[in-house]
Amino acid sequence: MTDYLQRNLIDEIDELAPIFDELTLWSSRFGLLLLDHLEIRQGVVGLDLGCGTGFPLLELAALHGPSSHFTGIDPWEAAVNVVRQKIEAHRIRNVDVRVGDAATLPLPDASVDLITSNLGINNMANPEAVLREAFRVARDGARIVLTTNPTGTMPQVYAAMREALAGCAPLAISDLDAQERHRGTVESITSELSEAGFTVSRVIPAAFEMRFADAAALLHHLLVASLLPGWLSAIPSESHREVFERVEEILDQRAAVDGYLRTTIECLYVEATRAR
Ligand SMILES: C[S@@+](CC[C@H](N)C(=O)[O-])C[C@H]1O[C@@H](n2cnc3c(N)ncnc32)[C@H](O)[C@@H]1O
Repeated sequence: MTDYLQRNLIDEIDELAPIFDELTLWSSRFGLLLLDHLEIRQGVVGLDLGCGTGFPLLELAALHGPSSHFTGIDPWEAAVNVVRQKIEAHRIRNVDVRVGDAATLPLPDASVDLITSNLGINNMANPEAVLREAFRVARDGARIVLTTNPTGTMPQVYAAMREALAGCAPLAISDLDAQERHRGTVESITSELSEAGFTVSRVIPAAFEMRFADAAALLHHLLVASLLPGWLSAIPSESHREVFERVEEILDQRAAVDGYLRTTIECLYVEATRAR
């Protein structure tokens, strides 16, 4: 199998340009945690839940090579179309991708050796149903590997929101606490996996820092744009403006002390198996 010898990337450079570098740094940090710890085997039937635009699905397929096959699934049709473009442009032979819901997988029982989900299952509407489906399609001995950002992510921002709420909408603090807890913990994720039938074998916590020049930089970041609806859902709408003006002041005071604004991002790698 020496077809790779015929390929010269320079000949394809224009075709590759539009899809070469759009991966967010955010999901890559979690993906690297997954790729650093996942044991790579031969002849694997893999399934990536919530594959988005193809990361880490395509990297997993490349690392496992032609003896393995990976399927990606995501209800986001535009993203699945990007994955299809990548599959075609990169001439990938061992991946297929489907538009669909991980809670109703279009796969037979006991057909998969490895299930991955990078920042996936924690974003799905019904994680319990997804894990039950994952168990159904898992073969005996199959692994499921998840990465997620648990409760405890961005504590500096939550502290600023709590301080701001204390001044103008103190009753909402308990709602913000509940919103923060919804992310899950080692215990809650372990228990969800166990309830679906899996046995947790490895939990690897990690963390990294994101640094911003000031509150405006943080609050305009694309990542925060994806988190903001959750935060706002815990705060009465008539207080949104007042709370966030105060949050900006608090965060800018911290930035003035440290020279920049830092936030901690907690990460978890959780691996479980379907017992033989
Ligand atoms: C934070 S993104 C992660 C995407 C990709 N895995 C990455 O690491 O960049 C979460 C993905 O989960 C997908 N998703 C949400 N609900 C889903 C479901 N029920 N079944 C499958 N995927 C789902 C979203 O469309 C989105 O692509």
